[in-house]
Amino acid sequence: MALVRSGRRRRTGRDEGEAEKMLITLGAKRETSDAPLDLLEACHGRIRRFLSLARAVGERELPKAEAVEVAGQVARYFRVAFPLHLLDEDLSLSPRLSGRDPLVDAALARMRAEHPVVDAQLEPLVALCEAVQSEGEATLARRDAIRALAPSVEQAFEAHLVHEEQVLFPAAKRLLTQAEQRTLREELRARRSPGA
Ligand SMILES: [Fe+2]
Ligand SMILES: [Fe+2]
Repeated sequence: MALVRSGRRRRTGRDEGEAEKMLITLGAKRETSDAPLDLLEACHGRIRRFLSLARAVGERELPKAEAVEVAGQVARYFRVAFPLHLLDEDLSLSPRLSGRDPLVDAALARMRAEHPVVDAQLEPLVALCEAVQSEGEATLARRDAIRALAPSVEQAFEAHLVHEEQVLFPAAKRLLTQAEQRTLREELRARRSPGA
């Protein structure tokens, strides 16, 4: 699961000064808390990490096998796990928080409205990663397209994630009882259980 890249500096005449290579580690982060709001915040960490990995496929001259592997991991994350995060927020967090505070209701409405928007922005980027995976290489055309798309997708997500982190998650911690938070956690976990 841990991928690739040496952490050493490799300098050439052309790219001296930007030759530091990154260590890409996928799926290495594990939640240290099972509090439901911590679980949601951990999802945000993964969203940011996989978006940055998608950008890396476009921006960096990764070895062929590594580019394909990274693109595949990005596509799998956004096809399989990310939709569950949207469901967590739309079906579990939103109904529990609504009707308690007009400002929180407005923030929830913004969150729900943004979900299809960021999802639609994400789609072509994920499709490009899938293409890299299925074609077995990151061609120049694919890399150019990823490089052109990734920053705007990251920007849209960042605004969305920060809004949730600054407004909604603190509101949930403040307004939900311990019992409600336990139920929320159980729903998040059930959504990820086989056969659930
Ligand atoms: Fe969201
Ligand atoms: Fe979120």
